[in-house]
Amino acid sequence: MDRIKIVGGHKLEGVIPISGAKNAALPLMIASLLTGDRLTLKNVPNLADVNLLARILRNHGVDHSIEGKRASPTPHLGETFHLTARDIVDTTAPYEMVSRMRASFWVLGPILARMGQARVSLPGGCAIGTRPVDLHLTGLKALGAEIDIDGGYVVAKAAHGRLRGGRVVFPKVSVGATHNVLLAAALAKGETVIENAAREPEIGDVANCLVKMGAHIEGIGTSTLRIQGRDSLEGAVHTVLPDRIETGTFAFAVAATGGNVLLEGARAGLLETALAALEQTGAVVTQEADGIRVRRNGSGVDPITIETQPFPGFPTDLQAQLMALMATARGTSVIRETIFENRFMHVQELARLGADIQLHGDTATIRGVKHLKGAPVMATDLRASVSLVIAGLVADGETTVNRVYHLDRGFERLEEKLSRCGARIERISAG
Ligand code: UD1
Repeated sequence: MDRIKIVGGHKLEGVIPISGAKNAALPLMIASLLTGDRLTLKNVPNLADVNLLARILRNHGVDHSIEGKRASPTPHLGETFHLTARDIVDTTAPYEMVSRMRASFWVLGPILARMGQARVSLPGGCAIGTRPVDLHLTGLKALGAEIDIDGGYVVAKAAHGRLRGGRVVFPKVSVGATHNVLLAAALAKGETVIENAAREPEIGDVANCLVKMGAHIEGIGTSTLRIQGRDSLEGAVHTVLPDRIETGTFAFAVAATGGNVLLEGARAGLLETALAALEQTGAVVTQEADGIRVRRNGSGVDPITIETQPFPGFPTDLQAQLMALMATARGTSVIRETIFENRFMHVQELARLGADIQLHGDTATIRGVKHLKGAPVMATDLRASVSLVIAGLVADGETTVNRVYHLDRGFERLEEKLSRCGARIERISAG
């Protein structure tokens, strides 16, 4: 297994190109199941999760090609995918696939909407809590799905062969359940209203793509989505929006190490709460024509009290990275995780580097220390592993991050992007 070796203590200076958003690219690729025409997606990041989903979709009959050669000459513009689901040849998404990536569960809604039936394994994904799918199923039932659980699979049928519009009121905000129901509603008969929909920008990106494909959707960007389903949808060309989590991760890294970096292609409007938090810690953030600039001089990191919330609140996907930044703050920070109950696996690894963190239920209290010291650490999930990279960039001496396949799921060319800005970081291949 590959490892990442970091020698800490170097400021970041330069330009980091921001990739297309993984969490938008995945549901956008899944949207290709809704039409027999070609869906072209631009700015798709080259990530393990994206490649795995392409394989899963191929199983269902989606023809997938990548324009030009794999390594784009302008890598920050990502890749162009052509996806065509002329026929859905298999309505089953098997355990071996879905257990490796939770988002692949989202094929349920679109396949059910197009074919009138679907059989999808219950999901796996990052081990950051129980992560049930009850909201997905309740939502699809409101659109006329009849659902059984059989041998670890969700077996769904549309009453009378086709989903019909319905009213879905989510008791809790769920990104995945909103995607699943939104995608299904685009091909359901009549109007669907989703209340308490997730407002994450990636939902808006998918909704905008569905509009290009011919769906009528009102309320994009709000918590009430009103979708008029269509008998069929058309092909479209859509550009994946920039990754706000990658943006925030690098922004926090610059704040942690000091320095001055332009996050090229990043959009401040996608992560205002996170950038406001960063400014509170003493970093200077400016929106420029071609991206966001983050600077921190030698003045140290101020502590912060914050809790994670659904968008537009502080994202749970940046909680671990913020904690790495707070590890060397001048004072005590408090971070409360309200989205996932078990998303603190980075705490004991950060402690191996000398961080002083106490956990009480959903709340972490971080007493800033003067120095972290390099050590071998273990990546446990996608966002946790990148927090260890940030801590490693700050720590004195050498840090080795093991199990970096977690990082490869969601961060494109991480070592390259950081080393170009002066970080001493390299991948050590297993074999
Ligand atoms: C998505 C993101 C993930 C992010 C998360 C929250 C993708 C590919 N993944 O994950 O990076 O951390 O949103 O912003 O976009 N829940 C239920 N029942 C359900 C579904 C969810 O109780 O049926 C709960 C979850 O356990 C969790 C909360 O709702 O506590 C939010 O989960 P959700 O928004 O669904 O996360 P994902 O879509 O899995």
